[in-house]
Amino acid sequence: MATITTQRLVLRPWKFGDDKALARGFGSKKVRAWISEAPQGKYGLNEAREFIKMATENNGALYLAFTDKKSRELVGGGGFNKINFNQMSGEIGYWIAESQWGKGLATESTLAVMKYGFEKLKLHRISIVALENNEASLAVIRKCGFVPEGLHREDSQLEGKWAGTALFSMLAGEWKAKNK
Ligand SMILES: CC(C)(COP(=O)(O)OP(=O)(O)OC[C@H]1O[C@@H](n2cnc3c(N)ncnc32)[C@H](O)[C@@H]1OP(=O)(O)O)[C@@H](O)C(=O)NCCC(=O)NCCS
Repeated sequence: MATITTQRLVLRPWKFGDDKALARGFGSKKVRAWISEAPQGKYGLNEAREFIKMATENNGALYLAFTDKKSRELVGGGGFNKINFNQMSGEIGYWIAESQWGKGLATESTLAVMKYGFEKLKLHRISIVALENNEASLAVIRKCGFVPEGLHREDSQLEGKWAGTALFSMLAGEWKAKNK
């Protein structure tokens, strides 16, 4: 299982002992509202434990706990929600605990996950999606250099209103050219 180290973070496999910190961080409705696939009801210890069980057993994905390098505290989660080794493609996802927003941690972790995907897993294509009005995530996506591909119109709901999903990707050649 992968462990990825960045300047400020260690991205490592989930452990059952992460349950309380996960329930606290991902329990925030402000965090989950932007993630269409996330359970939108109550998110407590049971839901956190179910996720950790799934994350540790899932071979078609790479779910990592984002932890502070110094304090070891959980600051978020993400990685590849899907990896398809037939097509050599992966889809990135992430969330950061509300108390840690605005410090550049999503950008730092996403660039590290992209590097791992292209250089270790040898993926050809990495994609990412965000609700069209998720300005914070769109800023992260832009900072990481993803190329816009289009919009799935009004395919999701956010607080009772329809919202589209914006699609982005990067190809291995583009990553290589940026990181020469
Ligand atoms: C999206 C998210 C992961 C960003 O985490 P983060 O660690 O704060 O991100 P970073 O600090 O790396 O970058 C955030 C950028 O968004 C910008 N931003 C934040 N809120 C914004 C807003 N309302 N409008 C415009 N830009 C905004 C910040 O200014 C920053 O850009 P900058 O560095 O150019 O100033 C975090 O807000 C989150 O967990 N949101 C809920 C879950 C989610 O949306 N996940 C992604 C689903 S696609």
